[in-house]
Amino acid sequence: MSENYTPGYSSNAINFMAQRTVDSHAAFFQPYLHPGMKLLDCGCGPATITLGFAKALAPGTVTGIDREASQIRIAAESAVTQGISNANFLEANIYALPFPDNSFDAIFSHALFEHLQQPAKALQELWRVLKPGAIIGLRSPDWGVFLITPTTPELDKAFAYSKWLQQQNGGNPDIGRELGALLRKAKFTNIKTSASYQCYEPLNSATEYLAQIIETSAKIYQAVQKGWTDEQSITAMSRALREWSQHPDGWFAQTWCEAVGQKN
Ligand SMILES: C[S@@+](CC[C@H](N)C(=O)[O-])C[C@H]1O[C@@H](n2cnc3c(N)ncnc32)[C@H](O)[C@@H]1O
Repeated sequence: MSENYTPGYSSNAINFMAQRTVDSHAAFFQPYLHPGMKLLDCGCGPATITLGFAKALAPGTVTGIDREASQIRIAAESAVTQGISNANFLEANIYALPFPDNSFDAIFSHALFEHLQQPAKALQELWRVLKPGAIIGLRSPDWGVFLITPTTPELDKAFAYSKWLQQQNGGNPDIGRELGALLRKAKFTNIKTSASYQCYEPLNSATEYLAQIIETSAKIYQAVQKGWTDEQSITAMSRALREWSQHPDGWFAQTWCEAVGQKN
């Protein structure tokens, strides 16, 4: 099985990520940070969180890495547009980072570990580039405990299929609850874990994101040829998501799990 990044890089997916900020999605890590630190953000995507860290850590520096060149371009352009000069961005894979040992005071990674086939291997690499005493903060969703109402059989299928897709792509949609254990097994200490819910309001910000992933799965991952689903089900599942987004009582709360650890 190969590791694929399930959401892809449509403008819809990028805009969905770009709504995130330090305050809305990384508040758990803020108490561990102070100006002057050198931070690495792995899987930075469009880097709205990364650039928030850059403002908070100045005169320290922030480096964002992502394996996708288009994300690095968007991130670097946003830094220029916002006049942020202490952030730099590099195309790189979390499994083989282009940095010497003991380079960073802090590492952050948001919404990446659920897509990794080898999270323990990634953590070995993060350990290598962290300085002794440095900290790490991870945040990922956990698909085991979403709150969804009102449900329909087709909506349930849409969520189950989205989860299946991520698993077939080598990821683990339930990794949120494992983040603390992963840090412990990677020899990090002083581990603190937490969890919270994100309520999607308006609902269509999340439903359109999922509907488009389902629709493009046939083309991008040959989901129909592989027998993961069929064209009729793809239409029914994406329609169910869009109808749900218009329902006056439609409500979706997603679980996010967080873990912080320290390298001795
Ligand atoms: C869900 S996005 C999260 C973006 C950002 N951290 C956020 O939360 O807004 C995950 C990002 O990780 C990147 N990614 C996936 N696999 C990666 C890998 N092995 N190494 C580095 N980046 C990776 C993807 O290209 C994507 O931009």
